[in-house]
Amino acid sequence: MQGILKDFHDFEPEQESFLSAVLNGLRKQQKSIPSKFFYDERGSGLFDQICELDEYYPTRTELQILKDHSADISAVLGSRAHLIEFGSGSSTKIRTLLDAMEQPLSYVPMDISRDHLLIAAKRLAGSFPDLPVIAICADYTSDFPFPNLGGGRKTGFFPGSTIGNFTPREATEFLKKARNLLEGGGMLIGVDLLKDEKILHAAYNDTLGVTADFNLNLLKRCNQELKGGFDISKFEHRAFLNREKSRIEMHLISLCDQIVPLDGERIAFREGETIHTENSYKYSVESFQALAEEAGFSPQAVWTDSASLFSVHYLKS
Ligand code: AVJ
Repeated sequence: MQGILKDFHDFEPEQESFLSAVLNGLRKQQKSIPSKFFYDERGSGLFDQICELDEYYPTRTELQILKDHSADISAVLGSRAHLIEFGSGSSTKIRTLLDAMEQPLSYVPMDISRDHLLIAAKRLAGSFPDLPVIAICADYTSDFPFPNLGGGRKTGFFPGSTIGNFTPREATEFLKKARNLLEGGGMLIGVDLLKDEKILHAAYNDTLGVTADFNLNLLKRCNQELKGGFDISKFEHRAFLNREKSRIEMHLISLCDQIVPLDGERIAFREGETIHTENSYKYSVESFQALAEEAGFSPQAVWTDSASLFSVHYLKS
């Protein structure tokens, strides 16, 4: 059932052209395409399928942590706070959290994708009819005028280890901005943990090949939207742990020497050359707390699962 939004603020950014991002990335020495371009309609659907895979532990582990520790989490968050979500793709997690929270003042989802945001926000408003829902269409890493919520503490929620897509430097910058916004309140944030390489490797190399399809979908998008001529059978998904940098890297590797037409250009690939498509940083509880402190937060509580696969932190701002 759809509900009614209390408010909608639209700061949708200029669509950064997919074409210019791809051309820029493919002209570099180490070719790359930014990971945010995974999430067209097909890509978002494939990501939802990834979250259901046996091998992909983060989604269900984080949800289980939120459920198992809901009383504790609710006590730490306190009563009467606005709940501000960075990205709004996680409706089961937000429902679990809202059920646990004492007298939330409002729910404020922020997302860059307007359609997706409005559908999810209205659905949530239908389930929580007494809760004011204020949707904000914006790139939450950018500077935009955050609406006045009329006083009251703010609690940020940033689940899914999306913070892992940022380099540690970018993550610190993002957290500094979030801390300013949440002044006097805090942030509940999900962070994936560094662990046994086999578990990590399996999570990004599932046997059904969904992650491979998700990665290769970038080339499909190039063909469909940018008049690209990628022969998708001549590229393969590659994901591995870069231990030195404490991150999973995803790449698309060229299986032969080839020349790919793209928007009137010809892009040359050597056999074995890759396009770097994603970083997913993994932290320890301590290394993430150190990063949060660098951004000015005070780590106040952390919850993990019994196998220490994933962590949920509360950072006081
Ligand atoms: C949504 C960025 C947290 O890094 O695990 C899943 C994306 N990539 N499988 C992650 C992803 C490959 C995911 N994040």
